[in-house]
Amino acid sequence: MMAQAAVGLGVPIRLLAEGPDVSAAQVVREAVVGDYRDLETLRRVADGCAAVTFDHEHVPTEHLHALTEEGHPCRPGPAALVHAQDKGVMRARMDRIGVPGPRHRLVTDAADVADFAKTVGGFPVVLKTTRGGYDGKGVWLVDDEAGCAVAFDAATETGAGILAEEKVDFRRELSAIVARSPSGQVAAYPVVESVQRDGICWEVTAPAPDLDESLAREAQLIAMRIAADLDVTGILAVELFETAEPTPGAALGESTGRVLVNELAMRPHNTGHWSMDGAVTGQFENHLRAVLDLPLGSPRARVPWTVMVNILGGPHGRLSEDLYAGYPHVFARDPSLKVHLYGKDVKPGRKVGHVTAYGDDLAEVRERARHAAAWFRGDLGDESE
Ligand SMILES: Nc1ncnc2c1ncn2[C@@H]1O[C@H](COP(=O)(O)OP(=O)(O)OP(=O)(O)O)[C@@H](O)[C@H]1O
Ligand SMILES: [Mg+2]
Repeated sequence: MMAQAAVGLGVPIRLLAEGPDVSAAQVVREAVVGDYRDLETLRRVADGCAAVTFDHEHVPTEHLHALTEEGHPCRPGPAALVHAQDKGVMRARMDRIGVPGPRHRLVTDAADVADFAKTVGGFPVVLKTTRGGYDGKGVWLVDDEAGCAVAFDAATETGAGILAEEKVDFRRELSAIVARSPSGQVAAYPVVESVQRDGICWEVTAPAPDLDESLAREAQLIAMRIAADLDVTGILAVELFETAEPTPGAALGESTGRVLVNELAMRPHNTGHWSMDGAVTGQFENHLRAVLDLPLGSPRARVPWTVMVNILGGPHGRLSEDLYAGYPHVFARDPSLKVHLYGKDVKPGRKVGHVTAYGDDLAEVRERARHAAAWFRGDLGDESE
C-alpha cells in the first residue's frame, strides 16, 4: 500500500522482502529478498536511498544505529522506534513525559505478578512480551498466579521481557494518528474508534462516534506530544483506551472520561487504513511525504463517516481460498465500496485485505462495510444485520 502511494508521487522505492512472494514483492519492482536482521543486507538495500523506512518495527535497533552513523537517514530513527519495539521502554518513557497509561511493572516471575496484582486491585491482569508481539500474539489476560506460566514460557523462548499491566475497564479503543516530518510539521488525523476481536483489529470507524470533543482533542494532543518528544518521523499511531473514569483533578461534571495510551506504532497502521479512501491525504502518502521531508497533505476526512472492516481469512465458505470470486457480488451490491486485497495466502484469522465504505449515514455505512467483509470471509449472517 506504500508502493501504491509512491507510484502516485512518482517516487521510486526499493524493498527488502522476507521472501519472493510476500505482498510487497508482488508490486515493488526493485525488491531484494533477504533477512532484515542482517546488517550487510540492510546496507545493501539502503545504499543510494534518500531515506530508510519500515512497514514493521522488528529491524534490530542496533542495526538502525549503525545505518544512521553510516549516513543512511532512518525515518523514524532508532531512538524513536525503540518505543514501538519495546513496550517496557515505551511505558517508562510515557511515565517520564507524563502521558497517562495503565499502571504497569516489568515482572520477572509469577510471584512478582501476584505482588503487582495486589497494587491494582487483584487479578485479572494483562501480561505482554516487551518485544516481538503483534495482533494480540504476546498478550495474555491472566486470572491467577498459575496462569502466568504461559507468558513466562514464551518469554524464555524469545528472550523478551514481560510487562504486567492493570486490566483497563475501557469503554472502547481509540486510535490517534499523526504524521510528522523531520522539519517538525505535524498533521493529525481525526481520532477513530477501533474494535478488536481476539486481539486483532476488526473494524475502524472514522471519526469515533459520539466522542467528547475535549477527549478527541486530548487524544490528538497526546499523539502530537509523543511525536515531538520522541522525534518521530513518518506516521505515529497511538492506540488508546477510552475509560469512563474522570481525569484526576478535574472538577465534578467537567470530564466525561479519559484516554490512556495502550501502545505506539511508527508506521502506517491498520487503524489508519480508512484514510486511503476517506481522507484528503491517505496515511501511506503522508508517511512518504514525512519521510522525504515534504510538506504534509491534509488529513481531513472527505465525508462525515468512513468505516473500514478487515477481511480475515475464514475457516469455511466458498470464498475462503479465492477472494477474487467475491468481487462480482460486492461491487454489484455497492458501487461506492472500496476493496483492498493484499495478495496473501488465505489462512484462518489472517488479515488478507480490507474494505472501506463511506457516506453520510453511519448505520448505513457500517452495514455496507460489514456485509462486504463478511462476504469475503465466506461468513455471511451474523455481521450483516
Ligand atoms: N492493559 C490492558 N487492559 C485491557 N485490555 C488490554 C490491555 N492491553 C491490551 N489489551 C487488549 O489487547 C489488545 C492487544 O494489545 P496490544 O495492542 O498491546 O498488543 P499487540 O499484539 O502488540 O497489538 P498490535 O496487533 O496492535 O500490534 C488491545 O488492543 C486490547 O484490546
Ligand atoms: Mg495493539
